[in-house]
Amino acid sequence: MADVYDRLFMMCKRRGIVYPAFEIYGGTAGLFDFGPLGAEIKRNIQNLWRSFYVLREGCAEIECPAITPFEVLKASGHVDEFTDLLVKCQTCGSSFRADHLVEESGYEGAADALDAVAIDGEIAARGIRCPECKSELGGATPMNLMFSTEIGPGSGRRGFLRPETAQGIFTNFGNLYRFFREKMPFGCVQLGRGYRNEISPRQGMLRMREFGMMEAEIFVDPLEKTHPRFCEVKNEMITLVPASTGRETGMTLGEAVSKGVIVNEALAYFMNFTKEFLFAAGIKEGLLRFRQHLPTEMAHYANDCWDAEIHSERFGWVECVGIADRSAYDVEAHMKSSGCDLSAMRRYDEPREIVRKRIIPDMKKMGPLFKGDAAKVKATLDGMDGEGVCGDVELDIDGKKYLVPSDSYRVEKVTEKTIGERFVPHVIEPSYGLDRIFYMIMEHAFEEGEKEGEPYTVTHLKPSIAPIKAGVFPLVSKDGLPELAFKIDRTLRSFGIQTCYDESGTIGRRYARMDEVGTPYCITIDHKSLEDGTVTVRERDTTGQERVKIEELPSFFSKNALGFF
Ligand code: ATP
Ligand code: GLY
Repeated sequence: MADVYDRLFMMCKRRGIVYPAFEIYGGTAGLFDFGPLGAEIKRNIQNLWRSFYVLREGCAEIECPAITPFEVLKASGHVDEFTDLLVKCQTCGSSFRADHLVEESGYEGAADALDAVAIDGEIAARGIRCPECKSELGGATPMNLMFSTEIGPGSGRRGFLRPETAQGIFTNFGNLYRFFREKMPFGCVQLGRGYRNEISPRQGMLRMREFGMMEAEIFVDPLEKTHPRFCEVKNEMITLVPASTGRETGMTLGEAVSKGVIVNEALAYFMNFTKEFLFAAGIKEGLLRFRQHLPTEMAHYANDCWDAEIHSERFGWVECVGIADRSAYDVEAHMKSSGCDLSAMRRYDEPREIVRKRIIPDMKKMGPLFKGDAAKVKATLDGMDGEGVCGDVELDIDGKKYLVPSDSYRVEKVTEKTIGERFVPHVIEPSYGLDRIFYMIMEHAFEEGEKEGEPYTVTHLKPSIAPIKAGVFPLVSKDGLPELAFKIDRTLRSFGIQTCYDESGTIGRRYARMDEVGTPYCITIDHKSLEDGTVTVRERDTTGQERVKIEELPSFFSKNALGFF
């Protein structure tokens, strides 16, 4: 018996929403195509998201390449740490993600928090065998999830397809800081594809090897992890599963911050913002909660992280958004590795005079000595306090040792006027998986029922997400009705309202086709329309009908189907 995922997927395939990619060649696990209506739904989700983060919150949007040089992802920790534990069947050779096998066997808690030794222990204790051939499994080994490539011909520069869009934003921090006229806090977003060579993607559209991401990096002063509008939302209720109890509990955001359940206001504000976005996109209330990561479960860059989990009839609770406090981890890492100053300035109210000891490198000596790394060494010396520094100085920059000879620098006492102090910004990051949200919206909207003894499906998409805003139907294909209907169709399209003109079959069949793909309104043009210039507008969810003047249709749709907030 097909479950909701299978039935929904069948509908999506039949109606041009989602197809398995490269199907005529047998398909490839973890890759999907979005058909004409699916691509439109995705764009609508992205635009709704933009309306929240760019229009409402004032973030800037940038676009960076997916191909990323090795050095960037080495510095960010992805080369060494972006791994999942892989187990292989000793007999048939099939590969599996170890934590998923442990979770599927009934393990309570987050199995991805376990290390290889603990996972091996669980596999043995639970008697887990190969799901394909029931033979014994080998030991768990880490597998890096990045797709590697070469930039340029031959043995060109090593690179990867980005596993997250975030690094492009971090490496641009200096440019963005100047763009925002050196004022903090500010946010920058990126929407684009992320690539992960998932070990065994068996969860359909939830685990893909190429997927849409919508990420916001909010740069804040570590001394002020607040939000200017937190007071407006502090009484909002939110459903939390704190790591300390593992139990679902409702509380206000204000309470969660004051009790230390959520570590700071900025993180709490964006958890609530995520909730608002997901409800606006069509996620059902009661089917959303925020689960805090266990310390051992956290990504290598995070010091606190909450997952927005959405409930699915097929998959249970699924992480769809990760909201992390990445602290100074990434910016600091890129600063060290590139040698570029990516710090920000905390301005004093009045300029202050300070006396300090500065290390002044002699670049004539340092240049030949350290060659390509000279700038990095200089930046490190510049940032050091010269108090007590003498003789040869040993530096450790990003794991590499440098010996700065005593005759290649001098220490000077300097009086400096300073307008502020420099700091490395902290980052609050809401990271959204577009395709998981897409699937959850579809599952929550999908209602299968019956009409006059026949199966009848209505997909209750929010008007802003629906791929088609209006079906346009002449009641009959004669008497000048198609001409008027066609004119109305063209006019609505000229206002940016996506329509579907349809004159085939009974009106009932035409409504059914539109209800199935989530079209919120259908317009019927009848003989009365020729006489009084009005049409019938039928609303999908109530099936209620009203007569609207033809010239008022564009404003009707702008008000009811295009606005975001
Ligand atoms: P999981 O634990 O399920 O592998 P993750 O913790 O690695 O996910 P993040 O690294 O936090 O996920 O990625 C941010 C978001 O990107 C996730 O919340 C999810 O919505 C989405 N995402 C991650 N991996 C995939 C994937 N393979 N396919 C589709 N979406 C994904
Ligand atoms: N940028 C968040 C993540 O990829 O996990």
